[in-house]
Amino acid sequence: MSKYLLSFDQGTTSSRAILFGLSGEVIAQSQEEFEQHFPNPGWVEHAPSDLWQTSLKCARDVLKQVGARASDIVSIGITNQRETTLIWDRQTGEPVYPAIVWQDRRTADLCRQWEGQKNEISARTGLLLDPYFSATKIRWILDNVEGARARAEAGELAFGTVDTWLIWQLTGGRSHLTDATNACRTMLYNIHEECWDADLLSLFDIPASLLPEVQDSASDFGKTLSGWLGGAVQIGGVAGDQQAALIGQGCFSEGMIKSTYGTGCFMVLNTGREAVTSQHRLLTTIAYRINGETTYALEGSIFMAGATIQWIRDGLQLIKDAKESQSLAEKTGYENPVYMVPAFAGLGAPYWDPDARGAIFGLSRDSGIKELVTAGLQAVCYQTRDLLSAMEGDGAKAAELRVDGGMVKNDWLVQFLCDVLGVRVTRPQITETTALGVAYLAGIQSGVYQSLDEVAGLWQTERVFVPKISKAKRDKLYDGWKDAVGRLCRPA
Ligand code: G3P
Repeated sequence: MSKYLLSFDQGTTSSRAILFGLSGEVIAQSQEEFEQHFPNPGWVEHAPSDLWQTSLKCARDVLKQVGARASDIVSIGITNQRETTLIWDRQTGEPVYPAIVWQDRRTADLCRQWEGQKNEISARTGLLLDPYFSATKIRWILDNVEGARARAEAGELAFGTVDTWLIWQLTGGRSHLTDATNACRTMLYNIHEECWDADLLSLFDIPASLLPEVQDSASDFGKTLSGWLGGAVQIGGVAGDQQAALIGQGCFSEGMIKSTYGTGCFMVLNTGREAVTSQHRLLTTIAYRINGETTYALEGSIFMAGATIQWIRDGLQLIKDAKESQSLAEKTGYENPVYMVPAFAGLGAPYWDPDARGAIFGLSRDSGIKELVTAGLQAVCYQTRDLLSAMEGDGAKAAELRVDGGMVKNDWLVQFLCDVLGVRVTRPQITETTALGVAYLAGIQSGVYQSLDEVAGLWQTERVFVPKISKAKRDKLYDGWKDAVGRLCRPA
């Protein structure tokens, strides 16, 4: 009897697989880091084979851990780092170039050539003209890899974000598919008409033959080749990682907000059936599409969250383990004069400055490791306040923020976040909400769950944090951040 849902969670720094029971409980998990390639300043690449091989290895590992077989899995869900761009040969499956990662800034200059069309691009895609999204990365590959344009025009090449690449691999090239949540991050997808936008394809000079077909997030994406997991398994759920986390957090009603702290931090507000246009430089995006019905969201994207602590650990080597950050922050306290602006890959929402670079302010002779580490944690929280303020400016009434991702294990960080935001912050029992979200989608597609209400009923709180400092203190701390960020980026 089938009894599990298997999630692939392909992230920016590691691949994971999680085996869930049918009530959403974690049965087994496995994680593999892979190499980050930085061939030039501001460039970030992944080897496509690393993304696939580490994902497969993790999936095999979780089955092995519990002695499960392919026939024990009801359905597979796939979630992924979004926007990251791959192009490969349809016949051989060989990539023509490494994966260009969402953080990669190489197309910042290229973007400027469409400055005159930026409002039209936003109106159709809900996005802002920025190197973050796939369109200019595709264009860069077509312009810079020898023969790529001619092969694309001859229909020989396929484009995909990481979901599409994994589906292609799992199905042995039989499925060239994506879902609406991933498609809407390419800057080529019209989120209102819900189709690839012919005018944008011609604007960016990208042949339509490259593109995958776009499906509902809970739908039939094909079956795996039996060699991969010891039997064919249905792929039934696909969503970009931030939208998957919204689902895993049970944020199905209009007005509900979650924030995920992974490599970056992404705050997503469910806006229901309406694609709300932000007046504060947030993105309008597709939250999920189920049974042909689209739910929209507003999203604020911060490029460096966990990656800031990773840089403090691996780049500066100030700590050996990210866990040390909590005790150092407890020693420093809230009133840290040091402010770090981690604009290593430019600044995302609400500043959108691809040219900004990181800086540290407020150093004095007595500043040391603990102040720097604390400043890294605090920067993540101050940026979250930037996002929440932007969402409130767009009409959100935030009473509660649901948080997840690796960083929220740090109680100090979550309490500081709560104090800086001045709203209740809730941490769920299962913080692996990204993987859980696509397990739910796969469960909906295969009939394990009958409705989103049933899924929402499975969500459980682990701890609620409430604000403990005065508004005056909160605003003073945040003013220090606004001053620091204002010194290195052009006004939003
Ligand atoms: O948009 C980029 C995002 O999907 C990456 O997520 O979890 O790898 O930080 P993560």
